Amino acid sequence: MWPSKPRRSSKIPRSQERVVILGASGGMGRSLALKYAQEGARVCVFARRELELSQVAEECRAAAPKTKTNSAGERVLVVRGDFTVVEDMVNLRSKVQDAWGGLDTLIVNAGVPTFRPFCELSGLEVRGRTFTPTEPDAEAVKRAVQVVDEVTRINYLGPVVSAATFIPTLTSSMAPAIVLMASLAAVLPAPTLSLYVGSKAAALGFYQSLAIEHPWITFTAVLPSTVRGEQFFDNAADGGKVRGQDPESYGLSCDEVVRGVLDGVDKGKTTLWLPSRGRTAFFLYWLFPGFITKIARKRYGYPAAD
Ligand SMILES: NC(=O)c1ccc[n+]([C@@H]2O[C@H](COP(=O)([O-])OP(=O)(O)OC[C@H]3O[C@@H](n4cnc5c(N)ncnc54)[C@H](OP(=O)(O)O)[C@@H]3O)[C@@H](O)[C@H]2O)c1
Repeated sequence: MWPSKPRRSSKIPRSQERVVILGASGGMGRSLALKYAQEGARVCVFARRELELSQVAEECRAAAPKTKTNSAGERVLVVRGDFTVVEDMVNLRSKVQDAWGGLDTLIVNAGVPTFRPFCELSGLEVRGRTFTPTEPDAEAVKRAVQVVDEVTRINYLGPVVSAATFIPTLTSSMAPAIVLMASLAAVLPAPTLSLYVGSKAAALGFYQSLAIEHPWITFTAVLPSTVRGEQFFDNAADGGKVRGQDPESYGLSCDEVVRGVLDGVDKGKTTLWLPSRGRTAFFLYWLFPGFITKIARKRYGYPAAD
């Protein structure tokens, strides 16, 4: 039997861990912040919406165990900003350095979905092989490109700026870790999600490559399937709405994801499939692409292919 890897918590107890969560004003980021705070870690919450962010910080302060050495205020930092904007990220880094002198865990969680069939973005109505109008003009293609720019900026550029800003800061840690909230969609194609799939796949490949360049950092890519949470489904970069079954009726809860992430990071996992059957779907796609494609068309309300 292989000797098991020592848990990360044997090197950094939670009470000493310094955690930055990018995209913490709602959804999974908020749940992660609360859990880390509850377990006694120092937590910095970062996102664009000030009010929501301060509410999450208050919840973290209330949830944190009371210690004699540090007040809850020092243990919970709030920094407002956009993770695609270099100045905002450098400002975040300065605040974290000033307050804690370094960082142990960077969680790159922020992201947006897209839900519209790709050709709709350039104004085409699609019925099988029939397009109305028959071709998009230059203006129509530019409108599609604007959406591509937006989703790529958030789902790919944001993770790139985050890595560029924070990798050197992690040298201050006994057990540095970076967590990328990717998606099962980063490895498994789905209709209506094409731009989301592409941007998430780009960020995943980028972080997997960084993991090889920086073996002293533990990189964990989280690949959740659908997770409940209204904001995510109401906020698509293309203004689209999710097709098929209501995610609230079958998605994972944020708490299930949070439990998986904390345990996976502690065990030093490289890839976290949440739930684990996501891995089966991934392998099945490569072995029997026709089978998975058929299921995907049905699930997203497309007629069976000819
Ligand atoms: N929900 C799902 O089904 C699902 C499944 C798999 C993977 N994921 C991934 O999991 C992550 C979190 O999803 P979620 O469901 O928790 O989404 P969510 O509820 O919409 O939360 C997204 C968070 O990211 C922040 N954010 C977005 N753009 C940002 C930017 N430019 N700069 C800083 N913060 C930004 C938002 O805050 P502000 O608006 O205040 O900035 C918010 O706090 C995303 O990366 C998503 O792709 C989601």
